[in-house]
Amino acid sequence: MKFHFQGNAVEAKDGDTIAAALYRQGQRIFSRSFKYHRPRGLLCVQGKCPNCLMNVDGIPNIRTCITPVRDGMTVKAQNAFPSLETDWLSITQRFDWLMPVGWYYKTFTQRAMWHAAEPIIRKVAGLGEVLTSETPNYEHSWMHCDRAVIGGGWAGIEAAQAAGARGEQVVLVDDQPALGGQSRYRKRSGQDPSDLIKRLQALPNVRILLDSYCFGLYEGNLLGIVQRNPHSGAAERLVHLRAQHTTVATGAYETPLLFPHHDLPGVMLSTGVLRLLHLYGVRPGERVVVVGAAGASAEVSAELRDAGIVVVATVSPEQMRVASGAPGVKGIQTEIGRFACDLVAVCGPQVPDAGLAAQAGGKFAWSADHGAFLATGLPQHVSLVGAAAGEGLTGVRSPLPLGKRAFVCLCTDVSSQDLCDGIAEGFDHIETLKRYTTATMGPCQGRMCQLSAIGVCAQQTGRSKAETGVTTSRPPNPGITLGALAGPGHHPIRRTPMHYVHERLGAVWMDMSDWRRPRYYRTSSTSAEKECILAEYRAVREGVGIIDVSTLGKLDLRGVDCGKLLDKVYTHRFSDLRAGRVRYALMCDEGGIILDDGTIAHLSDDRYFVTTTTGNLEFVHQWLDWYLAGTGWDVHMANVTAGYGAMNIAGPRSREVLSKLTRCDLTSAAFPYMACREAEVASIPVIMLRIGFVGETGWEIHCPAESAEALWEALLEAGQDSNIRPFGVEAQRLLRLEKRHVIVGVDTDALTNPYEADMGWAVKLEKPDFVGKAFLARVTGDLSRERLIGFVLSGPGLPEDGAAIVADGQLAGRVTSTRHSPARQAAVGLGWVKVSQAREGASVDVRVDGKLVPATITLQPFYDPEGGRLRQ
Ligand code: FES
Repeated sequence: MKFHFQGNAVEAKDGDTIAAALYRQGQRIFSRSFKYHRPRGLLCVQGKCPNCLMNVDGIPNIRTCITPVRDGMTVKAQNAFPSLETDWLSITQRFDWLMPVGWYYKTFTQRAMWHAAEPIIRKVAGLGEVLTSETPNYEHSWMHCDRAVIGGGWAGIEAAQAAGARGEQVVLVDDQPALGGQSRYRKRSGQDPSDLIKRLQALPNVRILLDSYCFGLYEGNLLGIVQRNPHSGAAERLVHLRAQHTTVATGAYETPLLFPHHDLPGVMLSTGVLRLLHLYGVRPGERVVVVGAAGASAEVSAELRDAGIVVVATVSPEQMRVASGAPGVKGIQTEIGRFACDLVAVCGPQVPDAGLAAQAGGKFAWSADHGAFLATGLPQHVSLVGAAAGEGLTGVRSPLPLGKRAFVCLCTDVSSQDLCDGIAEGFDHIETLKRYTTATMGPCQGRMCQLSAIGVCAQQTGRSKAETGVTTSRPPNPGITLGALAGPGHHPIRRTPMHYVHERLGAVWMDMSDWRRPRYYRTSSTSAEKECILAEYRAVREGVGIIDVSTLGKLDLRGVDCGKLLDKVYTHRFSDLRAGRVRYALMCDEGGIILDDGTIAHLSDDRYFVTTTTGNLEFVHQWLDWYLAGTGWDVHMANVTAGYGAMNIAGPRSREVLSKLTRCDLTSAAFPYMACREAEVASIPVIMLRIGFVGETGWEIHCPAESAEALWEALLEAGQDSNIRPFGVEAQRLLRLEKRHVIVGVDTDALTNPYEADMGWAVKLEKPDFVGKAFLARVTGDLSRERLIGFVLSGPGLPEDGAAIVADGQLAGRVTSTRHSPARQAAVGLGWVKVSQAREGASVDVRVDGKLVPATITLQPFYDPEGGRLRQ
């Protein structure tokens, strides 16, 4: 396998991680530190430190020591310029005296200074760049089990095997590509779990997720798990695992010993050294000094010698003084002498990896015997086993020297001296110290540094470690990609029953809520959008047009008390609506704010047909249900949106076309404006509403969804002689704007009441009660805020939605909808202005393309203000 690193081809062996392949080829610097841009090499080789973060195939901050090589992948260094080996910003470490802990707050005391420095700081700060181009695929899955076991080491395998043998459904999660934990790389551990693993794998009720890590334990024992490369089509899968019981068997991880320049490339945790050696067959160095307590260093030294690596010396932590070399380690100074080497293997303290226990509600208590904080007080559904519970841990004495080059926090270059300075300035609680210095707040989330930070804090404050305590572990830990959280880029689409007819007619689509609707129809004569929309507009104003309105929400209400419910929930009165009539319906919340609008048709004595706006159906349905609950009223409500197709045939010739297909009398005398009928059109049973959103004679026809396509085709055929034309949402919006018909949510906002929107006529305060009445009764006539007005532009151009409306040189309001009106031969629009400016004929200016253009306010429709055409 080959991949590209900084433009050069790198050979990799089967099973290699990126870091292993690079290390084998001689790469020693893997990253640059956050603040001082110090060179950093591999440290833990376990995915727990910040040292190997790189950009992989455009994704920033990938831990290369746990990322398997894929053939052809592209790997780049980050946070270094011009290269990892020569990073110009490393000069900042010479000026560390200028950047003490908390230096932002101490240096930029003047606003102007901060504004001058901020862009520079933002440019050089941060790790990696966000991928804005094409992103890989991510997916989510959901699982349930009796027992989740997190960790595939000896303890985890035993726990899973025992639960599996009892017949429990078990999911075992491990972040490595194979089970076995430390026995995979500690050849002298004395543990060989291969038999146990075989028995486990033979259990059909145990599912094993490898290369997967658990980043959080949430309420209800919900575990967040990320699976890397679940298959070739997905980069990561986020598994939502709900378990009856969670066994945390995440083991313990090694942390660094603190001494000056311990962050040099070539100073590595002993477990990292053994991983390189035994998991990837990479020689970590040629001449090694092992630093650690007698037992641990003897084991590591023996393993290194077996591999033919020269162990120059073994040194206890207390004897260690300073590491030296540039850019990587070349030697160490100790109490017992100076040793030249190219690798320092550090046997540091072990920390139980028990963050999940804390997230489950456990607390940490210091155990001197174990040299670690151990979790206590776990809820019943969570248990800890193995090293995560402290098993096998013995304290390692680790001196904590103070100095500017003893970096406690490798993520953000916080030294032990910085912590002392923070404590001296009063931040002597471990939580405030964390926030002031940023120690433990970097990509490793305190895994490498928390123990040392607590040690320094305890040492300086004279408190014990138990009194000092730990900082809080919160998910996600470790961090996860935003892509994994977001999941697949699903965009659910709802299609109307006439969708494929529109496609044949040349529909250009737009998304509206979940629905896909024709924006306009591209015809064979022209494909120019503007011309198509204008032709559709003219068809409706001068002849006949037809639009698919199936996306309207539709509710069928039956029962003797429907009128009462509708009176309660809508502002208009419906209990007095005669059968066969339709009324505009406006819904407000308790504060009088407009929520939705639509129409309500009284079809027969106990049956009402309610339409809602396209996006608000579910909400309106719930709202009606809410106010019906507990009343005992006889109302039965059904959401029939998917069961009905709907179309609106409109225009001066619409009657002529429709009458060819129905025996229903369509004359205005028999079927007047705002009437409704149940009838048949083209032998299809329909509900017909004579309403006019677009301002022309027209009928909204609802029919069974399975017949909608046939009805649409029949109407088009019947209208051929009248040059009927389908029209889309864009023409509809222009037509409705000329009538000054409001679209809730476009022309109204989250504070609009009916009086401000000039719809006070739809509020019947004389009703005994309705939702919002108390508020609306108070604001009647008191339009203290703003009012929705229409305006006609006197000059050229078209303002954008949201453009400023200016009066007397002062900002007076904003535009909500604009279009160029063929009827007025000018740009017209709706907008909000202060009440004092909302006068017929008042002059304002509207901002168009950066210039102010005069406009005249009108409170009338722009087209057919008397509404004669609707009633024809
Ligand atoms: S070396 Fe990769 S995370 Fe520590």
